[in-house]
Amino acid sequence: MQVVSTVKEVRDIVAEWRKEGKTVGFVPTMGYLHEGHGSLISKAVEQNDKAVVSIFVNPMQFGPTEDLESYPRDLEKDSKFCESLGADLIFHPEPEEMYHEGFSSFVDMTVLTEELCGLSRPVHFRGVCTVVSKLFNIVQPDRAYFGQKDAQQLAVIKHMVDDLNMNVEVIGCPIIREEDGLAKSSRNTYLSAEERKAALILSKTIFMGQKMVEEGETDAVKLVEAMKKNIETEPLAKIDYIKAVDGMTMQQVTELKSPVLVAMAVYIGKTRLIDNFVC
Ligand code: PAF
Repeated sequence: MQVVSTVKEVRDIVAEWRKEGKTVGFVPTMGYLHEGHGSLISKAVEQNDKAVVSIFVNPMQFGPTEDLESYPRDLEKDSKFCESLGADLIFHPEPEEMYHEGFSSFVDMTVLTEELCGLSRPVHFRGVCTVVSKLFNIVQPDRAYFGQKDAQQLAVIKHMVDDLNMNVEVIGCPIIREEDGLAKSSRNTYLSAEERKAALILSKTIFMGQKMVEEGETDAVKLVEAMKKNIETEPLAKIDYIKAVDGMTMQQVTELKSPVLVAMAVYIGKTRLIDNFVC
């Protein structure tokens, strides 16, 4: 496995693979990899001749008061992890390699990005769409893998690829959870022991919501109200949002007619965590 930091190096390596007729799978990440990323990397390895992982904490998708500086980083550990899963190449650029002086072109999306996380993180999806477009242009993969935990991001990327006729298949992969249910996230490392326990309220509430739907609830408003009430039983939790939205358009729904995305963002202390289910 090679680790490179320039666009040219990636292009040269991928061009050689292409000459040999190899297919390329791609997993864009911000690093500090966990089994959630691992499941994406394993899929990319399994479904393609070559697998590329990018590790780049993208400054453009963080708001001014967000955790860009403190976002956890560990390239050495990440490299070993990727290698153990059979990845062929890590692209780990410096911010200057991605955003040269005078950088002024952006990929922006309306509608889908104006709900859920887009409301509380107004610059986030512009940063995500811009960096993912750049990464797709650099790596030119056949397939790219994203986690369902960031369900809105997955929908936004699929929509962008369709809108802009990008030649890549976007594949969504299931949420990977800790044994006790908490969705795996690089941001879980921010939690103190007490907060880690409190954070279980997210997955417990997701499972509760899923059970309500299984037992026949069709009213999205009632479902969301019950889920909100459950989160409020945890004193360390503060709801950013819990909403039921159309799985494609991200617009709020009142009825649970499939496919509906039930998504939440909840602060545990200062850490903002997300979770969801689709019904
Ligand atoms: O999901 C992430 O880690 C990031 O948003 C992504 C897709 C790598 C873009 O920076």
